[in-house]
Amino acid sequence: MAENHPEHPSATAFLLIALSLISTLAAVESNLFSRNLSPSSLGLKKPEKLSHLHFYFHDVVTGKNVTAVRLSKAPTTTKSSPFGAAAVMDDPLTISPDIGSKLVGKAQGIYALASQTEASLLMAFNFAFVEGKYNGSNLSVLGRNPVFSAVREMPVIGGSGVFSFARGYAEARTHTFDLKTGNAVVEYNVYSNSIQTENLLFNSSFDVADGRYSLLMAYNFAFIEGKHNGSNLSVLGRNPVFSAVREMPVIGGSGVFRFARGDAEAKTHTFDLKTGI
Ligand SMILES: *[C@@H]1O[C@H](CO)[C@@H](O)[C@H](O)[C@H]1NC(C)=O
Ligand SMILES: *[C@@H]1O[C@H](CO)[C@@H](O)[C@H](O)[C@H]1NC(C)=O
Ligand SMILES: *[C@@H]1O[C@H](CO)[C@@H](O)[C@H](O)[C@H]1NC(C)=O
Ligand SMILES: *[C@@H]1O[C@H](CO)[C@@H](O)[C@H](O)[C@H]1NC(C)=O
Ligand SMILES: *[C@@H]1O[C@H](CO)[C@@H](O)[C@H](O)[C@H]1NC(C)=O
Ligand SMILES: *[C@@H]1O[C@H](CO)[C@@H](O)[C@H](O)[C@H]1NC(C)=O
Repeated sequence: MAENHPEHPSATAFLLIALSLISTLAAVESNLFSRNLSPSSLGLKKPEKLSHLHFYFHDVVTGKNVTAVRLSKAPTTTKSSPFGAAAVMDDPLTISPDIGSKLVGKAQGIYALASQTEASLLMAFNFAFVEGKYNGSNLSVLGRNPVFSAVREMPVIGGSGVFSFARGYAEARTHTFDLKTGNAVVEYNVYSNSIQTENLLFNSSFDVADGRYSLLMAYNFAFIEGKHNGSNLSVLGRNPVFSAVREMPVIGGSGVFRFARGDAEAKTHTFDLKTGI
């Protein structure tokens, strides 16, 4: 990377942040615990686009071509009490329930049994699509998945490519589940929108000490300038530091960035292989 930009002396990375306020759905009921607000009362704008994606997810934990593997378990984890087990998956997504049908992407990430009383997963993963106009675009999902419920809903918390600024949800329905092997086919309906944007341009310098690898980055931009002074943006994403352009979802914010949704695009300006800065 440093070789690509020999003319630039300073140790900075160039970042483009585009972000926006999201429109929330107006709810109907009101009580002490929560209440309803009209989106416009908080200055939120209407979404511009909505995509609906439909596919089947194959979680193969037993057999020849396993797609999900156990990461860890707690000392108390047993087959009848699986709380504490965690797995990493690279599960194929296909257009029909047949695993041999057309591949549209992969679900890559982790899930953990996070309930002591039911089979409920915390899932944190990306849909990495390879089909049509979605090829090369990703959606990030973080949510609760009680696997024996008929329909589970998990928030889409961000995305990249055509899904920059993504906001939405993934609806999961078990198609088949083999109690003996633990293998499952799950039908997914994913609804995701894109929204109106504002651009921020600035230069940032940071230390990618172990920069040879793809980083999981979780950090805040704390702004001190102009109307953004005192406001913050939270970023959580994948940063393969040697790629020309990396996109990381903006997952929230404070101050003027309340309800923030967006996308941080990182391009390395200079990288010193010796110091890692
Ligand atoms: C496993 O994968 C190989 C290579 O893709 C394929 O030929 C084989 O049919 C698969 N086996 C099963 C049981 O899915
Ligand atoms: C998806 O994009 C990759 C890389 O650009 C390309 O090699 C592949 O053929 C594309 N696949 C489809 C189905 O368009
Ligand atoms: C989506 O994820 C794939 C696989 O990790 C990666 O190659 C690709 O660059 C990502 N797309 C974008 C737009 O960041
Ligand atoms: C960021 O740095 C580049 C190269 O030094 C410079 O051309 C550009 O104006 C800077 N951008 C901002 C917003 O300061
Ligand atoms: C940002 O806000 C702080 C605290 O209110 C203030 O001290 C500082 O001067 C402000 N900076 C700019 C550049 O406006
Ligand atoms: C933004 O972060 C700064 C630094 O951590 C903090 O002082 C400030 O209160 C935060 N702003 C808001 C609106 O939460």
